[in-house]
Amino acid sequence: MKGVVLAGGLGTRLSPMTRVVNKHLLDVFDEPMVYFPLRSLVAAGVTDVVLVTGQEIDQFRHLLGDGSELGASITYAVQQGEGGIADALARAGPQLEGEDAVVILGDNIFQDDLTPYVRAFQQQGGGARILLKRVSPHDARRFGVATVRGEQIIEIEEKPERPQSDLVVTGCYMYDAEAFSIIAGLQPSARGELEITDVNNTYIRAGTMRFDILRGWWTDAGTSASKLKASILVALAKGVTFDAS
Ligand code: G1P
Repeated sequence: MKGVVLAGGLGTRLSPMTRVVNKHLLDVFDEPMVYFPLRSLVAAGVTDVVLVTGQEIDQFRHLLGDGSELGASITYAVQQGEGGIADALARAGPQLEGEDAVVILGDNIFQDDLTPYVRAFQQQGGGARILLKRVSPHDARRFGVATVRGEQIIEIEEKPERPQSDLVVTGCYMYDAEAFSIIAGLQPSARGELEITDVNNTYIRAGTMRFDILRGWWTDAGTSASKLKASILVALAKGVTFDAS
């Protein structure tokens, strides 16, 4: 089992900060954003990690090196252009050498220890597994939204105007090696990207997608408001108090 952290993209929702700095190198409370998904993987026992980023790769190397400071062993892959999340994942393919992968988006921060979910994936025998979180109906519109019936997941809709549920798809995806054949067969979406939601819906149609619902807080840090929220949640988790004095 290997890990993948996806840290590319333009970060347009955080412009102008991201005009010169990659989003995932910005701060969340007192650490660079990319530390959080890396720590989540390491805490779940996934220490061999491929980090995919764009032209800022040297800055990531400077910050993270071989990953040993965080208990990981990091190798790097480059995504040229803005091909989307599934395209970024494809760049990590060769370095996974056919192993299953736990993929985390570099701006996603999880309170939950991911260990039980990773174990459940290892025990399900192939296919894919995603982590869902209940959010307010208004918030659901900026995510992939899942329709589930009991233990079964029926469909994921990417950023729907009228969400069918309040269960959204977080940026942690577990895949067997089949994911790469699926990505190879994808067509770009209307926004010109290879969508991770299309990969997930392919697994759903094949009946090999399972899911868990997170209990702890989860946030992405991809917008100014959610990045601030992430900083506050992390600070509170670290015992910081916001006294007036
Ligand atoms: C991506 C996915 C979306 C998912 C979200 C989680 O959206 O496309 O399905 O819910 O990550 O953070 P993005 O943040 O790239 O717009």
